Amino acid sequence: MSPTILAIESSCDDTSAAVFKDGKILANIVATQAVHEKYGGVVPELASRAHEQNIIPVVSQALLTANITKSELNAVAFTRGPGLLGALLVGCSFAKSFALGLNIPIIEVNHMQAHILAHFIEEPKPQFPFLCLTVSGGHTQIVLVKNYLEMQVLGQTTDDAVGEAFDKSAKLLGLPYPGGPMLDKLAQTGNPNAYSFPVVNMPDFNFSFSGIKTSILNFIKNNTQANPNFIQAHLPDICASIQQALIQTLMKKLVLAAKETGIKEIAIAGGVSANSGLRQTMQEYANKYKWNTYIPAFQYCTDNAAMVVMTAHFKYLAGEFADQYASPDPRLRIAL
Ligand code: KG4
Ligand code: ZN
Repeated sequence: MSPTILAIESSCDDTSAAVFKDGKILANIVATQAVHEKYGGVVPELASRAHEQNIIPVVSQALLTANITKSELNAVAFTRGPGLLGALLVGCSFAKSFALGLNIPIIEVNHMQAHILAHFIEEPKPQFPFLCLTVSGGHTQIVLVKNYLEMQVLGQTTDDAVGEAFDKSAKLLGLPYPGGPMLDKLAQTGNPNAYSFPVVNMPDFNFSFSGIKTSILNFIKNNTQANPNFIQAHLPDICASIQQALIQTLMKKLVLAAKETGIKEIAIAGGVSANSGLRQTMQEYANKYKWNTYIPAFQYCTDNAAMVVMTAHFKYLAGEFADQYASPDPRLRIAL
């Protein structure tokens, strides 16, 4: 029997609820929190409060869109981590009380695993085993995906995540939050070879993105001393060059991982997989290295509950349920 599941995602600054029924996603409602814009980044306490305000309307809208009643649900899922503790707590507490009221089981979901399993929402779906470059605001990982619920992190960032590098670079250039998508947009009309930024090579399959911020800071300082209008005059070229350095850093390790594992099924996931340059590079590398590449639809790149409900579906089938003692884990890891 295919279960009917409601899932809630509240790990960062998006409150989302999705409904899965008869093997399909029937609703995926996302409320993005505008409150953080004026602070230039996510303020954890404000995120928790906004989740509290959004959660009931978002869940109601998801049930309405899916055209189902609460009594049809077989389970309620929530993101347990990783993420912001207070934000996760809202989704976790809501899911537990909702499930308790309906006397149905709860399912806890790892947010990073969910980003990867977003690839099973729509065709084409990757074949196991595949490699997934998981790139978000908090993570940068190369994951060996052996099965739906069996994953191994081959390498990861030793400091900042690549999404953070995009956002911090954008901030240094005076772009509004969230900077990643804005930097991407400007990069599309720029020359990626106009300036060069360091592509840091870490051991094994690991990454480092903290140095690029300093190099951009020095680059801006030096050039604006000579010409105060330097940024305004060259913004698309600067953005395109930064984006190219970040993408090259990612692709270098992805190529290495593909080579060493012999795997040619290669996916990307997470917020940064919405980046136009990364998506294009994946297509180019598919031809160059004879990879089968998998790039998520835009709506499933950034945070959403559809990916959480998809993961919950696989956990339901595997009989992996949580209990009322479940609590958020801001540093939850993908199981080895
Ligand atoms: O997965 P996600 O929505 O949230 C986390 O789990 O962190 O990822 C958010 C990150 C942010 O750093 C955001 O700037 C970045 O994804 N992002 C992008 C683009 N769209 C979102 N970065 C570069 N280019 C984009 N088009
Ligand atoms: Zn995410």
